[in-house]
Parts: sequence; C-alpha cells; structure tokens
Amino acid sequence: MAILITGGAGFIGSHTCVELLNKGYDIIVVDNFSNSKPESLKRVCEITGKIIKIYQVDLLNRDLFEKVFIENKIDAVIHFAGLKAVGESVDYPLKYFKNNIASTIILCELMQKYKVKKLVFSSSATVYGMPESVPISEDFPLQALNPYGRTKLMIEAILQDLYISDNEWSISILRYFNPIGAHESGEIGEDPCGIPNNLLPYITKVAVGELKELQVFGKDYPTIDGTGVRDYIHVVDLAHGHVLALDKTLKASGVNIYNLGTGKGYSVLEVLSAFESTTGVNIPFKITQPRPGDAAVCYADPSKAENELNWTAKRSINDMCRDSWRWQSQNPNGYKKKQEIENPHLEQSEDFLIQNK
Ligand code: WQD
Repeated sequence: MAILITGGAGFIGSHTCVELLNKGYDIIVVDNFSNSKPESLKRVCEITGKIIKIYQVDLLNRDLFEKVFIENKIDAVIHFAGLKAVGESVDYPLKYFKNNIASTIILCELMQKYKVKKLVFSSSATVYGMPESVPISEDFPLQALNPYGRTKLMIEAILQDLYISDNEWSISILRYFNPIGAHESGEIGEDPCGIPNNLLPYITKVAVGELKELQVFGKDYPTIDGTGVRDYIHVVDLAHGHVLALDKTLKASGVNIYNLGTGKGYSVLEVLSAFESTTGVNIPFKITQPRPGDAAVCYADPSKAENELNWTAKRSINDMCRDSWRWQSQNPNGYKKKQEIENPHLEQSEDFLIQNK
C-alpha cells in the first residue's frame, strides 16, 4: 500500500511520515523544499529504520509531478503541501491562491487520471474565522479572515464538488487547531524560516537565546487572564489522527470533515507557565498590543473524530512543552547544518537519495 505525501518534509508532514512508516505503509514524498529541508526526511528514516522515496518537485510543475504517478502505484494521497503564513498571505494573496489552489487542482487532476481517488486534506481551524462560541464543532459557520484561510475554505469546497461529480472519491478533510510539540526523540520538530509567527516556536527561540523576549499580543481579552486562548494539540497526536483518517478513507467513500483538537483551551500565559515549569527555562515577556485578526478564544469539540475515527489526543500541554524544548535544545539551528551556518552561500548537496535529482 503506497501513500503519496505532498509536503511530507514539513512539520506535520514529517511527523505523519513517522507514524505511517511505523504502521507499515510504503510512502512516497513530494516536496519542493521551499519551506522545509530534506534533512527532516533523512531523520524520519533514521527514527523508523525505513526508507522513503523522495521527489523534489513543485506541484505546480505538472509534467514533473505526473512522473510520480507514472513511476509509482499510488493507493492514496495525504496533501500537506501549501503556503501557510497568515501575514504573508495578506501581503501576497495571488501567490497564496496560485500556490495552494492551483497545486491542489493539478493534484486532483492527476489523481483522477491515474484513478487514485482516496485523499486526506490538510485544512485548518482558521476556516471558522471568529467563532461565535466555543467549543467549535464541524457544522459551525465558516468564514475566511485572510487569504490563507480563504484558500483552505475554497479547497474544501472544490473537494466537495469533486465528490458530487464522482462518487467514487473518498475524501477526509482535517481541520487542525494549534499543532505544537515534537517527536519524543527530539530529532524532528518545527523549524520555521525566520522569526516565528506562532507562539510555541517563538517561545523556544527565546529559550534557546536566539530571541530576546516574548511579546504577548494583548491582555484584555475576556479570558481567564486576559490573554488569547487556543486549543494546542501535540503534533504526534495530530499525526495519529491522519493515520486513522487514512484508514477510514481507504475503506469508505464520500467527504468526511473532522476537527483535530484536544477540546481544551490554554491562554498564552498558561502556556508560558507550563513551558517554564516543565523545562526550568525562564521566558522573559512583555505585554503588547493585540494582533489584528486574532480571536479571543478558539478550541475544538473533537467528539466527531473521537466517535468516527476512534481518535483522541492523549498528550498534555506539559508533554507538548517538554517535547518542543527537547527538539529545540538539541537543534538550536533547526535542520540547518553546521557548514550551512558557516557558509550560507554554499549550495547544500543532500547526501541521501532524492529520486529526480
Ligand atoms: C496563538 C496565541 C496569539 C505569537 C495560527 C494561524 C492558523 C494556524 C495555527 C495554520 C494567540 C498569541 C502568538 C506571539 C503571542 N496555522 N501569540 N505572541 O494565531 O491561533 O493560529 O497558527 O493553519 O491558521 O492563524 O496561532 O501560535 O500564532 O497564536 O501572544 O509571538 O498566541 O495572540 O493568542 P493562531 P499562534
């Protein structure tokens, strides 16, 4: 059973590759490495003792992407590949619409052509916009607050229309809340380019001494301590959710939508306190203005995934902090290699197999 993973070198993709390999699936990764590094896949192979077929391909390059379908018998696809920086999407909407939507259409056209009609799609809780109430269930109103969120909403609609046109499709749409943490080995984790937008990678960069202090975006929200509340979910729990969704997608048909969250919200200051008590590392912070577009409170009702996928998030906020810190302290420069830091202009050659090099 061969599973094609687009964007498999990324944070959630690489952790899902580990769980799929551990479950005995053969996997093929397609990644353009625009926001990830082949090193993450090398480490996935080291963690699991398995091998991965890797294609360095941009999904928008249809001819090169088609070769993956010609050269491999693919049974299903998990589609992670996409741009995901909210702020950048506001500045460069066309880049986001072209990359995220056009690449998904090319993927679906190739799947149709090669009769691969089993798809798990990486969506986001961002499609709920500013929720009227919490916890959030899958039938809540949908609203895009930025071009990134709009690409997720539009792709979800495209996939539902695709099923209506051809009932042979089996599609799972997974709406993630706030993925954080890292594999227990500390070998793979979140490695954002530049200054992190998200809370936990920012905290770990402060902890490792790369950034000076955390800016807490606002302290006047109607929450336990005035700071924003979110549903943080361990990336390994999220990866398990993908494996269970894939199992169901392989057997079923139709379109199923699932929230993947813990159902519990933590404020920024609660996360900060959990990080400091778990790791013993003090995180200096200052309260600043709220970030435009931020919701006060957002957390999931995960009961549909619990009932239909037999899936629940098992790891605590302390586990998430401990595992994030292990990854960051063991890899202060993420996946960057020593020579890459000393000679940033040197072309890095990857010393392991990429199929179409
Ligand atoms: C969490 C909380 C901030 C950074 C984003 C995307 C969403 C999804 C997940 C892709 C909020 C506060 C943050 C900082 C802070 N990504 N914060 N200081 O905004 O819930 O969701 O990531 O699908 O699309 O919008 O996550 O980690 O940015 O913020 O105070 O330096 O931490 O205000 O309350 P968010 P986040």
